Amino acid sequence: MNILIVYCHPSERSYTFEIFNHLKTLLSAQNWNIEVSDLYANNFQSNMTAEEYLREGLSQTLLPISKDVLEEHRKIGNADCIIFLYPVWWSDCPAMMKGWFDRVYAVGYAYGQKPDLPKMKTINYGLVICTAGHPNNFLEEIGIAQSMQHIMLDDRLGQRFKHKEMFILGGTLAIDDVREHHLQQIDGFIKKIVRYCS
Ligand SMILES: Cc1cc2nc3c(=O)[nH]c(=O)nc-3n(C[C@H](O)[C@H](O)[C@H](O)COP(=O)(O)O)c2cc1C
Repeated sequence: MNILIVYCHPSERSYTFEIFNHLKTLLSAQNWNIEVSDLYANNFQSNMTAEEYLREGLSQTLLPISKDVLEEHRKIGNADCIIFLYPVWWSDCPAMMKGWFDRVYAVGYAYGQKPDLPKMKTINYGLVICTAGHPNNFLEEIGIAQSMQHIMLDDRLGQRFKHKEMFILGGTLAIDDVREHHLQQIDGFIKKIVRYCS
C-alpha cells in the first residue's frame, strides 16, 4: 500500500502536527509505504507565477510544467491513497494547501486532458482530515462544514478519486474534550484504507 500525505501546518507546536505524527505512526505500523509532501517544511511555492499562468490560464499545454510540480505528479502516480491534513483557517485550507491544488492540478493533467499528455491517475481513496477550532455541530449548524465538504470533496478531489471522505476534527478550542474522540476516529482510518485500496 502506498500512501501520500499532503500535510500543511507551519508549526511543530500545533495540534495538527500531533495528529500528523499519530497518523504516521499508525500507517507505519501497517508496513505501508508512506510518502509525505510537507508543504511548509519544503517551502512549497504556492503562488502561481506569471510564466506558469501562460500554461495554466491559457491552456498552452505545450509549455513545460515546473519541476516541483512534476515531483508532486510523481508522488501522486505512486499513491493508492492520498491523505490531505491541515487546520481550518477561515473556513478553508491554509493558502499553501490551496496553492498545491492551483499548481499541481495542471491543465492537461488533472483536467482538460488530451490523449498525448500524461494524465492524473484515478486514486482509490482520498481522505481529507482537518482540525478546526469550532465544534463540529456548530460548523454544521452554520453550514460551513457542508461548504468545506462540498468544495474539497466534490470539486478539488472530484472524479479523480474513486472513494473520498472528509473528517473535520472539530472543537480544538477545548482540546481536552475532543482529543480522545479524534484519536479514535484516526484509528478507524486504517480499516477504511484497507477496504478502499485493497
Ligand atoms: C488564521 C487562523 C484562522 C482560523 N480560522 C478558523 C475557522 O474559520 N474555523 C474554525 O473552526 N477554526 C479556525 N481556526 C482555528 C484552527 O482551526 C485550530 O486552531 C486548528 O485547527 C487546531 O490548532 P493547531 O493550529 O494547534 O493545529 C483558525 C486558526 C487560525 C490560526
